[in-house]
Amino acid sequence: MLLEELRKEIVFYGQEMLKSGLTMHTGGNLSARDPKTGLIVIKPTSLPYRTMRPEDVPVIDENGKMIDGSLKPSSEWPMHTMIYQAMPRVMGIVHDHSIHATACSVADIEIPLIMHEICIYCSSPVKVAAFEVPGTPELGQSALKYLGDNDIVLLGQHGPLAVGATLWHAFDAACAVEQAASMLLVARQLGGTVSPVPSTGRKALRSADPLLGPDGQPPEIKAV
Ligand code: 13P
Repeated sequence: MLLEELRKEIVFYGQEMLKSGLTMHTGGNLSARDPKTGLIVIKPTSLPYRTMRPEDVPVIDENGKMIDGSLKPSSEWPMHTMIYQAMPRVMGIVHDHSIHATACSVADIEIPLIMHEICIYCSSPVKVAAFEVPGTPELGQSALKYLGDNDIVLLGQHGPLAVGATLWHAFDAACAVEQAASMLLVARQLGGTVSPVPSTGRKALRSADPLLGPDGQPPEIKAV
């Protein structure tokens, strides 16, 4: 099977999204790019993660052309392919509908860097992008506006999206933003002061992100 290991990763992390409470049933989507061929494996549209098998996972090229598989790719393939075209270093993308991060996208509340995990993936608070209709290229443009310095963006009134140097990193970033959004809510309810991690700590943590260049600079974003 073409890109068998990468297709298995889509099934594995799709099921991890369910188990971790990042999504329900068929919601959200994830993809990974093969660094050797540039081909993309992406979740099939509207298929439950629970029963998904590696052979169900479509393989497309960076223009969305079907290369292998019998099921249609996620309806969000335009957003995924646009991000891969614009960000050559990105090899994995996770978009989910986790409760607290999605609530922030609905309430138009950016998420400050209050926990160490999210500091690895972001240089500034996680922004809320303008709402665009799911499945359109406009949604991809809206997401790209806030990627680069940060690996995570909240799609307005929709949910978080995380990119990574691998699918593992994109999934880890998706967990980190849900954790930060949950802690923001609980900490504010407790009534104490909710402050970002101090800047020296943030800088040290941020350097662990493999999406940054050897010079520590954020990944290049090309116009698409
Ligand atoms: P797909 O099943 O087509 O990936 O759509 C799910 C979704 O949540 C769109 O945002």
